[in-house]
Amino acid sequence: MDRTSIGVGLIGCGTVGTGVLRLLSHEDEIRARVGCSLRVHKIAVRDLEAERDDVVDKSLLTTSVSDVLTHPEIDVVVEVMGGIEPARRVVADALKHGKQVVTANKALLAAHGDVLLSYADQHDLDLMFEASVAGGIPVIRALRSSLASDRVQSIHGIINGTSNYVLTEVEQSGASLDEVVKEAQKLGYAEADPSADVDGFDAAAKLQILMCLAFGTSVTQATPEVRSIVPLCSIDFEYARSFGYRIKPLAVARKDGDQIEAWVGPALVPEEHVLAGVSGVYNACYLNSQAVGPLLFYGQGAGMMATAVSVVADVIDTSRNLIAGATGRRQPAAETGASILVVDSGRSARPHYLRLTVEDRPGVLGRIATALGAHQISIQSLVQDDHRPNTNAEIMILTHDVLGSDVMKAVAEIDRSADVRAATLVLPIEDPERA
Ligand SMILES: NC(=O)c1ccc[n+]([C@@H]2O[C@H](COP(=O)([O-])OP(=O)(O)OC[C@H]3O[C@@H](n4cnc5c(N)ncnc54)[C@H](OP(=O)(O)O)[C@@H]3O)[C@@H](O)[C@H]2O)c1
Repeated sequence: MDRTSIGVGLIGCGTVGTGVLRLLSHEDEIRARVGCSLRVHKIAVRDLEAERDDVVDKSLLTTSVSDVLTHPEIDVVVEVMGGIEPARRVVADALKHGKQVVTANKALLAAHGDVLLSYADQHDLDLMFEASVAGGIPVIRALRSSLASDRVQSIHGIINGTSNYVLTEVEQSGASLDEVVKEAQKLGYAEADPSADVDGFDAAAKLQILMCLAFGTSVTQATPEVRSIVPLCSIDFEYARSFGYRIKPLAVARKDGDQIEAWVGPALVPEEHVLAGVSGVYNACYLNSQAVGPLLFYGQGAGMMATAVSVVADVIDTSRNLIAGATGRRQPAAETGASILVVDSGRSARPHYLRLTVEDRPGVLGRIATALGAHQISIQSLVQDDHRPNTNAEIMILTHDVLGSDVMKAVAEIDRSADVRAATLVLPIEDPERA
């Protein structure tokens, strides 16, 4: 198709939308890379009076989403409004109007991705979402294109910058998790309601997207087990280090035959592993693939410009497809998913870290060891910390390989005993190199 320009419409002009406009303002470079210019025709927002960056052409603003969706010169709609509704309706309507769609919205994809992707597929339209996982890190494109001939065996991600920042600060400052979350809110690293980040739901939505591309699972229905980082405290980091580990907020999907073990939550990682060094707001994705072996993707998982780079990469990609008359190209992983069962971490054997808060009196250790032994849980290391300023003692235990489900049964029993003063913390020890 011989074109002089491709029309773009934005739904949303907040953090990411503004970054997108800044990158699209590099007109000469974009034209050279796409083969024609990309021209923004309309930008839908909620509030026409809100203060905007200088890069925003105010004459293009509208509060009517349908001005964007029905604009005859707009070929590509960029959804950067966030949330599930009305974003679902906006994306569905954009596709119904025959527009190519780019979105950064992981929550939307995790909730409605199957329907939206299959509609786009049936109508030979592009629905692209590089920025929905790990912001500026091009891991979606790697799964869709670079690894299209390979078989991914496992994904280990640190894909929520807020929880990684919080755990890094607790480890480094010794402050409580609650204090660090409040500080992160002041600095703008955590939302007013931080639960999607600290309780793991944001990372779970991103893992659903990665699993869909890597393993062909349903993006909507293949949901991982989710555990919060909230019960952790600084003593856990001290003892994890003394045992040779670091604690990281992981998102894990591991394929074994026709099962995928998938979970999100804090876990101990061997300190020599590359993921142990991923700190602060940084994200990483460590893939193990059958033919190519291990791959590490590392970088900024959020932020205006990093995220905008991924959004504009998709806009450029779909524009090239439009020029070539090749939109709606097949996604590599669309074939096998239906027969794959997603299971939780309880079914596989690995070492675990336990922190028990018990009354400091004789015989407690023996009773705990007996209760663990009754569930075939053997102890690799045990340390008692009774130097805290209260009458309780904390016991840190590292187990040998044991089924997660057995650990949970034993801990439920132990926590019912009169010796125990607070719920026992259980963290898996995850070695990304384990086959
Ligand atoms: N921020 C990041 O670092 C980051 C990273 C990766 C992915 N993402 C994803 O990117 C998306 C956008 O995030 P953001 O941080 O840019 O959000 P944001 O700063 O809150 O911006 C949202 C924009 O959408 C507009 N909007 C909201 N509801 C609307 C409606 N009903 N009609 C028209 N416009 C509406 C808002 O208009 P007003 O300006 O008038 O309020 C605002 O311009 C989200 O899906 C998010 O998960 C963000």
